[in-house]
Amino acid sequence: MASHKATSCLVLCFCFLATATARKPLAVTTTAATTAPALKYATFYEALSKDPSHKMIMDAVAKDAATKAMLRLPLNVTAFVPTDTAFAKAAAKFGLGNDTSKLMANTCLLNALLKYHIMSPGMTQAKLATITSKNSMLVVSSTVNGAKKTTAKVLKFKVEGNNIRVQGGATSATLGKIRNVVAGKGILHNVDNVLLPSANLTTLAQMTGCKVTL
Ligand SMILES: *[C@@H]1O[C@H](CO)[C@@H](O)[C@H](O)[C@H]1NC(C)=O
Ligand SMILES: *[C@@H]1O[C@H](CO)[C@@H](O)[C@H](O)[C@H]1NC(C)=O
Ligand SMILES: *[C@@H]1O[C@H](CO)[C@@H](O)[C@H](O)[C@H]1NC(C)=O
Repeated sequence: MASHKATSCLVLCFCFLATATARKPLAVTTTAATTAPALKYATFYEALSKDPSHKMIMDAVAKDAATKAMLRLPLNVTAFVPTDTAFAKAAAKFGLGNDTSKLMANTCLLNALLKYHIMSPGMTQAKLATITSKNSMLVVSSTVNGAKKTTAKVLKFKVEGNNIRVQGGATSATLGKIRNVVAGKGILHNVDNVLLPSANLTTLAQMTGCKVTL
């Protein structure tokens, strides 16, 4: 639970930063005339609930208190959220046929999978274009020579025309039409594929200590 404490501490710090910045006039508003206003929500949970392309995942989240709580935290993170179409495509690819219900019912695995799609801090597409890799929030433990070792799973980034390709393990996704959504202190982007740090969902379950129910 040490990471929870660290997160709370970070959140507090960001609160102070945000308050300090909020008092200054916002220079960005002057360029708003040519840019479509960005969607803005209080939390990731709210942002996802309002976007109909995430119905499947929100139905699953509704039954999962841990993931729901995670999406309601005011975290300064970037979330890449696969659409329902992306989940259906991934289910077929990872041996679930067109049936995503087993994945959606395995809340432990779904939570781990979502963490692989989240990283700190919140970054717009323009910011993502300036980085090549970042640790995701998915941290896995292993035992090496009797000692417990934790490793954060990495995401990689590449600019592709007017888009960003996010690579994780052998998988990759690009940003959907819905990008740069402000969700509290974080930023949300739709993505067109599910990212996996491992060969398949079974190996992800093993890696994260979740039950294999697929
Ligand atoms: C899922 O696949 C089965 C068998 O291949 C098919 O009968 C069914 O219509 C499919 N359902 C959807 C929603 O695509
Ligand atoms: C999120 O963190 C970044 C990097 O520390 C910081 O620049 C940014 O202002 C923070 N955003 C918010 C909304 O607190
Ligand atoms: C998942 O990947 C592992 C390791 O590559 C492989 O041994 C296993 O057969 C795969 N399982 C499925 C269901 O594809």
